[in-house]
Amino acid sequence: MTQTTIDRIAKHEGQEVILQGWLYQRRSSGKIHFLQLRDGTGIIQCVMEKRLVPEEMFHLADHLGQETALKVTGTVRKDARSPIGYEIGVSGLEVISPSNDYPITPKEHGTAFLMDHRHLWLRSKRQWAIMRVRATLMRAIRDFLDNNGFLEIDAPILTPAACEGTTTLFETRYFDKSAFLSQSGQLYNEVTAMAFRRVYCFGPTFRAEKSKTRRHLMEFWMVEPEMAFADLDEDIEVAEGMIEYIVTRILDERAYELKILGRDIEPLKRVKAPFVHLHYSDAVEQLHKLGSDIEWGDDFGGDDETMLTKQYDKPVVVHRYPASCKAFYMARAPEDERLTLSVDILAPEGYGEIVGGGQREADYETLKKAIEDAGLPEDAFDWYLDLRRYGSVPHAGFGLGVERTLAWICGLPHVRETIPFPRMLDRLKP
Ligand code: 4AD
Ligand code: MG
Repeated sequence: MTQTTIDRIAKHEGQEVILQGWLYQRRSSGKIHFLQLRDGTGIIQCVMEKRLVPEEMFHLADHLGQETALKVTGTVRKDARSPIGYEIGVSGLEVISPSNDYPITPKEHGTAFLMDHRHLWLRSKRQWAIMRVRATLMRAIRDFLDNNGFLEIDAPILTPAACEGTTTLFETRYFDKSAFLSQSGQLYNEVTAMAFRRVYCFGPTFRAEKSKTRRHLMEFWMVEPEMAFADLDEDIEVAEGMIEYIVTRILDERAYELKILGRDIEPLKRVKAPFVHLHYSDAVEQLHKLGSDIEWGDDFGGDDETMLTKQYDKPVVVHRYPASCKAFYMARAPEDERLTLSVDILAPEGYGEIVGGGQREADYETLKKAIEDAGLPEDAFDWYLDLRRYGSVPHAGFGLGVERTLAWICGLPHVRETIPFPRMLDRLKP
């Protein structure tokens, strides 16, 4: 008899198979038990009829706790009402190991309770769907970049200095010195772009964000492409192309998962480049009309982003932010010294920033002064400044946050469900 998994069940129509998994839910009509078996690859209904199995087996099935580990034998048959198109007519049932009083029942639970039980919560259908979309999102990012001449080169996690401002650094001991967990691999990408031209790093990044919002995690995953001989326009073009590609792949490959999540896919179908482009100053003017009290020179708050993106049904590309709200490495706009060649991409439907990037300052003296002005220790950046001493060229890049992008694509209200083990202001466990 063949042992198989639920994702391959269609191949076995009409055959008797063995499945190993866990009891997800069960109900009974007295003469028939309906056991929902989950095996990690999917969920299938296993139908046990009293008249077809030994009496002890039928009795056993009626007393199984949720998440009991099971071995089920049965025949695969078509079932039009099943979301996967098949069910199992049970002929045998064996308990691999018991489970009693499983804490997460089919009833509603509060968020704090679920977060405390994240190690078990990941077994539920909704989390299953989200993590599968996440894996496809990461695969799609790599495929897009690999197919467009980018080389994946890792950036370090333990670093000697800040990239995105000193207020959100996680400090740790490094023998007798201090080190910081990486906020972004960008500065290292600039190094590797000068060695390999088009590069990207993809890994976890860390920010000690003292904010409790639906968009902030302390540990999140970011993909960061960087290109030598590229300007802001090319940067934006690559970012738009990548976002369109990711969404298209997920629509193609994860329709079932998006359905489980109840995601309306119509807005996602409209995610085609080019997106809406707005100069920072125009965006501020528009925000004023919408009732925001943002001042020219300030970064957008979460509410500003939500308000702005609700005006459009495509992602919004905001470019040329003032230097006052961007990091030290941004190149200045030639037409206006107050502005930078920076870009943020805001996801539609109120989701807000998913991409931040821009063209980098390529001039040695200007960059050296920017490092001083930012109050950063110059000796920690000597290697970075070297890039401007030996064949400096225009270059640009961006970072896309996986969790915020996933929250948007899956239509989730909060980023906490987009990463297997979220690290938040008050949460380091499990
Ligand atoms: O805009 P940010 O800070 O840009 C950078 O770090 C650049 N150095 C990237 C580059 O040019 N190579 O962060 C980029 C993206 C944000 O748009 C957002 O999607 C995500 O990273 N992000 C966070 N996601 C979750 N929680 C947080 N605390 C995040 N901070 C940033
Ligand atoms: Mg940003």
